[in-house]
Amino acid sequence: MDVMTAPPSNKHEIVDVPFAHKDLVARLSPGGRYIDAQTDADSPWVPFGDNAAIKHLAFDVRQNLYSNILWVKGPGVIGTHFHRGTITMVCLEGSVRYLEYDWVATPGGLILETPGESHTLVTDHPQGCKLFGWMQGPIEFYDENAVLVDTTDVWWFINHYETYCRENGIAINPKLYL
Ligand SMILES: [Fe+2]
Repeated sequence: MDVMTAPPSNKHEIVDVPFAHKDLVARLSPGGRYIDAQTDADSPWVPFGDNAAIKHLAFDVRQNLYSNILWVKGPGVIGTHFHRGTITMVCLEGSVRYLEYDWVATPGGLILETPGESHTLVTDHPQGCKLFGWMQGPIEFYDENAVLVDTTDVWWFINHYETYCRENGIAINPKLYL
């Protein structure tokens, strides 16, 4: 067999792929899905302090994994936090940097954060920033004296979403739960 240089794409048609465990997939897989992140149809903006909001996109309690868009609405800070898991983020709008690093993320840029890092997020942009995040593991938030304030994890993010929905008469969207 020749090495594939690009996937075959000459047929605009569904191909029934043979897979021995289709029944198991049908029974056990949470299934892929599309979440509308551009409007509030699938998920509302939930306030996160006075100058920020979070649009929750996915929760996976098995992996302590949560996905969302963080919107900092103007110049501001998200306090110092310590990661015990891995964070993947893409800057969608505005710009963002960390006090601890020498780079500035701009739209389209990829931010990777690994367990054991602590840092302080700052946006100097007049419109703040929007960051898409695919985030795993607990995040510990510390005050200016390095005293632990709270730990956020998938349960914290689910509670953040569901509390806001309950208080505002918004239906919980089952699509957000993997
Ligand atoms: Fe972080």
